[in-house]
Amino acid sequence: MSSIHLLPELLVNQIAAGEVVERPGAALKELLENSLDAGARAIAVELQAGGAKLLKVSDDGAGIAREELALALARHATSKIATLEDLERVGSFGFRGEALASIAAVSHLILVSRTPEARHAWRIECNGGAVSSVEPASGPVGTVVEVRDLYFNTPARRKFLRSEATELAHCDEAFRRIALARADTAFTLHHNGRALLRLRPQPPAERVRALLGDEAAGALLDLDEAAGAARLHGFVAAPTFSHGTRDYQYVFVNGRFVRDKLLGHAIRQAYQDVLHHERHPAFVLFLDIDPARVDVNVHPTKIEVRFRDPQAVHQMVFHALSRRLAQTRAGAGVELREPALAAAGAPSAVSWARAPQQAAIGLPSHAPMAFYDALFGARAGQPAGLPADAPAAQPGGAPPLGFALAQLAGVYVLAQNQHGLIIVDMHAAHERIMYEKLKAALDASDMAAQRLLIPATLVVTQVEAAAVEESGAALAALGFDMAALSPTTVAVRAIPAALSDADPGALARDVLREIAEFGATRVLTERRDEMLATMACHAAVRANRALTMPEMNALLREMEATERSGQCNHGRPTWTQISMKELDSLFLRGR
Ligand SMILES: Nc1ncnc2c1ncn2[C@@H]1O[C@H](COP(=O)(O)OP(=O)(O)OP(=O)(O)O)[C@@H](O)[C@H]1O
Ligand SMILES: [Mg+2]
Repeated sequence: MSSIHLLPELLVNQIAAGEVVERPGAALKELLENSLDAGARAIAVELQAGGAKLLKVSDDGAGIAREELALALARHATSKIATLEDLERVGSFGFRGEALASIAAVSHLILVSRTPEARHAWRIECNGGAVSSVEPASGPVGTVVEVRDLYFNTPARRKFLRSEATELAHCDEAFRRIALARADTAFTLHHNGRALLRLRPQPPAERVRALLGDEAAGALLDLDEAAGAARLHGFVAAPTFSHGTRDYQYVFVNGRFVRDKLLGHAIRQAYQDVLHHERHPAFVLFLDIDPARVDVNVHPTKIEVRFRDPQAVHQMVFHALSRRLAQTRAGAGVELREPALAAAGAPSAVSWARAPQQAAIGLPSHAPMAFYDALFGARAGQPAGLPADAPAAQPGGAPPLGFALAQLAGVYVLAQNQHGLIIVDMHAAHERIMYEKLKAALDASDMAAQRLLIPATLVVTQVEAAAVEESGAALAALGFDMAALSPTTVAVRAIPAALSDADPGALARDVLREIAEFGATRVLTERRDEMLATMACHAAVRANRALTMPEMNALLREMEATERSGQCNHGRPTWTQISMKELDSLFLRGR
């Protein structure tokens, strides 16, 4: 091995570029964010050849002073934060001082800028990391960044660039995300000299219509709920909204587009309560929260965030959305659902479930524990009166989670064990079990696929269709077989056998979206657990589904057999115990 030495700065920047600006669309995102951070009110974007040949962003923001032009291109130079405290409550998009240095290391970059005080603009050039001197130039107040021939000096990276159409689709998506979040700002987008989008400053609802189209916008309900220091606002499609074109799912945290597992889950769950078959929910949601309560310094492209208090955020988003969606149900509101007594359809189970109460009537008040001991204790083995289809007690004792009694409100499974009452959040528990199963199957390269009798056809984005063509092996590893039928349609021919109850279209769509966003390699490595959690959510029993007694018992047995089943994929408990003692004390029943 050779000795340890520092890497030259250009190489460091080129390595960073691989993460920060993976492709032209990522570079465009960085440039647009810089313009917004500079307070721009109007931003113009010009692209050539999907952004690979030219990316040019012009803004009317605050500009960069002559003395600072070279610094703007230097790594770790930023005007946006100065201390750790600043970082911990950062409100701007940028904070690392990395984006321009990274882009400049792998392109020919020209920066022309003028501050309001300056009598004219100044220009600086950087060719593959080599910075020129600053020269006078002409131009209005604001900044123009011109990026030519991205990756001209890093052939390995250049090879990863896809067709012009695919790279343009990525740029278009980056542009839309920014434009959706900033309805108060004017934007234009040109590609190869042709105008693709022109957006004037407008109210948020109009901006959504301009970017999502009339069909989707017509189905959107507006939403605005505040809870504590957080506010959730934006638009959600009514559950009845079913559309043939691509789906629209945009979530912003403090104006930043994110793909967040926690938020995604809260949204899916809220929709699950109102959708029988998972349609493709459409939404544009903005979560505004005290910047000190969220960490944005998690991911190189800042697409992930970490909340200080994830549970509170999950609850807030879930409840705000559920309430809004519930208002759309005919005759529905906040009234309680009818209790779904699962026992109703299973006579033997009913009699078994009631047996302890009846038997307990004549017992002295101190006797209940003894009674339950007799029923479930080690000596008892198979409890008397157990329905034939109930699972056998585990060798050496009663199953820790006991046996099912009933289902409550379509959400909870009630069971009794030797200590008293067990309450299980059936969706959360089932999801966890599915997740652990998928993880084991993927680890063992043993994700069985199940062919669909009738392939599902999906309308997707160009980026997603391209992902199908590029990532066949990764999809196969995950148990899928898909084929691109056209630049915007995909056939789903097989899905993982473990998820055969899921809606194949919705499941495939989520997987594709993830691969299109992060690339197959990352989906199978650093993002693997997220991917599997999303997949598991599709298969997990929906709230409101009535379970039979054997199904409930099977769920309890699977929970016992599954590692980490005590917590759902988001760290909330999947079950809880209320002891006989606690129950007795509720009824002032002395022992
Ligand atoms: N369009 C612009 N208008 C005004 N100033 C800009 C513009 N673009 C960049 N700058 C200045 O150049 C600096 C460096 O930009 P760069 O994008 O590299 O880093 P950053 O935005 O501070 O952090 P990050 O790497 O997280 O984006 C910024 O801090 C800002 O001062
Ligand atoms: Mg920046």
